Amino acid sequence: VLSKCIGAMLYKVKCDMNNAIGVFDSGMGGLTVLRELKRLLPNENFIYLGDTARLPYGTKSSDTVIKYSAMNAQILVDCDIKLLVVACNTASSVALADLRNLYPNLPIIGVIEPGAQDAVKASRNETIAVLATETTIRVGGYQQAIQNLNPSVKVLTKSCSLLVALAEEGWVNNQVAKAALEEYLLPIKDSEYNCDCLVLGCTHFPVFIDLIRKIMGDEVAIINSASSTAQVVKELLTDLNIKSPLVSGDESSTQFMVTDSPNRFSEVGQGFLNSKIDINFVKLVEYKNSIVLP
Ligand code: DGL
Repeated sequence: VLSKCIGAMLYKVKCDMNNAIGVFDSGMGGLTVLRELKRLLPNENFIYLGDTARLPYGTKSSDTVIKYSAMNAQILVDCDIKLLVVACNTASSVALADLRNLYPNLPIIGVIEPGAQDAVKASRNETIAVLATETTIRVGGYQQAIQNLNPSVKVLTKSCSLLVALAEEGWVNNQVAKAALEEYLLPIKDSEYNCDCLVLGCTHFPVFIDLIRKIMGDEVAIINSASSTAQVVKELLTDLNIKSPLVSGDESSTQFMVTDSPNRFSEVGQGFLNSKIDINFVKLVEYKNSIVLP
């Protein structure tokens, strides 16, 4: 505890409050997290890195996702970020502990714990369903986080990797999206467990919110991990006393970095961010060295 406190104190001294918050994701889906962060923290500067060359992460092995996550984090650390948000649910599920070991003095927030906390608060009958990618479900990220908070909660999981492709195609409210969502959601809705809370445990899923609400009905609480995470980041900035000193959101900046196809990122990404992405603010980056994990 003492070393953690000293670490946090040293961090405050070294950290420049003007520095950006770094956010990374496997691609453009993490823009749904950036969108919530920008909404809640309009005075902060952001640097977003999308690993568009190597997505999807959701079907890859844990070792590969850890390696890619460490490389993403290093690029952002080199930009002198003051806090790192791992926007990708898959990366948050498998790589958070390794990233915290690599950068012990950098505050690092993933999306799993904030989403799990809100879900546990929202569920009255202690039965929660989680939609996520194959790897997030396989490694049990949400299951563990939820049961750490309340071991008696029952967790139903559904891997919905097809939704990632549909979201990138912009098919978020048509017949194909409806059919796919019904296929995934009706077994949960009709199950004997009677889940009263559904977690959107993947960056791409919040864009389907209207259809998901229609299918699940008003009785089921829908938790968007992206908004839960933004709230936790806001609280942490205050606790560490590293909030941006800017007073008007007009002065804040958001820069984007991608590992492939800046044009596609700026076009398709707008649907996830819900605002225009100026191609002039999207930079193509390359990984320099591989990271050696301790
Ligand atoms: N960003 C990933 C996640 O939230 C979804 C896309 C992918 O599989 O890379 O799990």
